[in-house]
Amino acid sequence: MDNPKKNKRKILVTQALPYANAPLHLGHILEAVQTDIWTRFQNINNNECYFFCADDTHGTPVMLKANELGITPEELIKDVYEDHKSTYELYNIKFANFHSTHSDENKKFSELIYNKAKSNNLITKATIEQYYDEKEKMFLSDRFIKGTCPKCGADDQNGDSCNECGASYEVQDLKNPISILSNTQPIKKDSEHIFFDLPQKTEMLKDFLKNVQLQKSIKNKLNEWLGDDLKKWDISRDAPYFGFEIPDEKNKFFYVWVDAPIGYIASISNWANKNDLNMNDLWSDKSDYEIHHFIGKDIAYFHGLFWPALLDSAGFRLPDVINVHGFLTINGEKMSKSKGTGILARDFVNITNPETLRYYFAAKLNNKVEDIDLNFDDYVQRINSDLVGKYLNIASRSASFLKKNKNIISEDINHDVLKNLVEKKNVVIDLYDSKQYSKLIRIVMDLADDINKYINEETPWKKDNQEAVTIASTAINAFKILSIYLHPIIPNITKEAFKFLNIDLSSIDDVDKILTNKINNYKPLLNRLDKIIIPEEEDMNNVNLINIDQFSTVDLRVAKIIDAKDVEGADKLLQLNLDVGDLGTKNVFAGIKSAYKPDELIDRLVVLVNNLEPRKMKFGLSEGMILASSNENGIYLVSPDDGAKPGMKVR
Ligand code: 2FM
Ligand code: ZN
Repeated sequence: MDNPKKNKRKILVTQALPYANAPLHLGHILEAVQTDIWTRFQNINNNECYFFCADDTHGTPVMLKANELGITPEELIKDVYEDHKSTYELYNIKFANFHSTHSDENKKFSELIYNKAKSNNLITKATIEQYYDEKEKMFLSDRFIKGTCPKCGADDQNGDSCNECGASYEVQDLKNPISILSNTQPIKKDSEHIFFDLPQKTEMLKDFLKNVQLQKSIKNKLNEWLGDDLKKWDISRDAPYFGFEIPDEKNKFFYVWVDAPIGYIASISNWANKNDLNMNDLWSDKSDYEIHHFIGKDIAYFHGLFWPALLDSAGFRLPDVINVHGFLTINGEKMSKSKGTGILARDFVNITNPETLRYYFAAKLNNKVEDIDLNFDDYVQRINSDLVGKYLNIASRSASFLKKNKNIISEDINHDVLKNLVEKKNVVIDLYDSKQYSKLIRIVMDLADDINKYINEETPWKKDNQEAVTIASTAINAFKILSIYLHPIIPNITKEAFKFLNIDLSSIDDVDKILTNKINNYKPLLNRLDKIIIPEEEDMNNVNLINIDQFSTVDLRVAKIIDAKDVEGADKLLQLNLDVGDLGTKNVFAGIKSAYKPDELIDRLVVLVNNLEPRKMKFGLSEGMILASSNENGIYLVSPDDGAKPGMKVR
């Protein structure tokens, strides 16, 4: 027999590193899902494949965000790291390692790569004139400047382009420039910057573009840029800047886009150290691991030109594959808070099962650089029709007949029915490998249709026991094959499916194995979705005035938490039992689990909205609401001062 691991590929995979200045949105999840599906597929296809990521922590936006919150950048990126990591987990994104660009490894590799470039005469210096904010005492990049368009005269336009007439220009040409940080007029100031001599790498980059696997449209664009004269790349920023200091320079920092992609290497190195592996075997000029980057179309320039040039100048292996995807729109529009589509990834899981989003994204993803639309009505329809109506329907229908056979799958099955499913294995493998997930899903759902049709035509409900068991045993074997095919897309649902079938999955080759074992009772693995409604974000600028009578309709009371516990199956909720004095006790489900441990809440005083209409939830009845405020860093309960007693009115 062939040894399936004999020709196994070794692959290191990365996705773009998310910025550490904000929580993840659904666009981040789109990329993570595309990458995770591919990695999981490679592993069940007997290859060795690892998915790496990290937070992209440096640069001005992180520094300003930390200032705004009154914390240090280090504190900010620590909080964001936890938030990003746990949000990816909600979507079953399986990283070999999730690291940070603010790490020892990244500092080491950034310095090493820079020093190599320097010794290869690729580093030069020049003095440039830049806008400087005297109040904030910092140089301003274009996006921190607004002004009047030099072409059409429209006010309040960006530093480098006009939204009114579409012109792009140099920031120096903008009229009446204003720093958006301090609302003052910036001055022009000289500063010496450090440059990477990209033009020297033109021939190398032409070669690289010939060899790298990358979508044609992007390759053409990059070749166009290469054909124009390349400019030297400004890789330094002046203090204050949150980042790594450039070796042997004073108060000069690496521009965030220098150390961001080096973060890929740093994450791998951090993982290698933890696993006693050697970087030379993983990512060096001698390593035999393929390198695959998954990125969005907006950062193709960095990954297609700057990054290979940097790697090459330091003697590292170049990427083998760069996969570029389009942007995510929601209900046909750019994500926007005011339209209720700016929903955060960690909040979306309260609205629907995250695996269904994975499925929906997969159903829309292909290997082109097209934008993807998440349409909520289409989403609900698609999940109910495909996953519930077709795929899982096979399991629930078969299970009821197998019960009559003590849940044992019969050896007596219709092999012809299964043959077609097994034979699709190579098609499935090719479609996964080439990232044509939407086509793949169409094929798998056609197979599911075939099996449902087979059950309908065979009418096991009209047949005697033995025949019914044969039909159900055939169908349950088909369900197993479909579960294997869908596993990279919906790992959790299919894991539950394998538990129901009483089997372990180790490889896509398991589609050939016929099941004859005892299975478990079937429990629904997914409920039908209801219409998706995104709760509206309060519009902070739009304060609605109410009068005192309106306010007094709200019955606010002091309450004491007498019991608090986790809620099984709810990631965000805690169940609280509240003592409301003479008004008795109340059961409340509060979405505060991310910020509080049950134990630390006991005996704490809170403010309860006592006359809120009780709400029936999946987990029980919620009889009120406790007051809390929140921002992207956490949730903060409102508490009365010492001396307040349970039951007292708050007004
Ligand atoms: O565009 C972004 O969100 C960047 N943080 C991506 C960095 S990718 C890599 F180079 F680190
Ligand atoms: Zn204009």
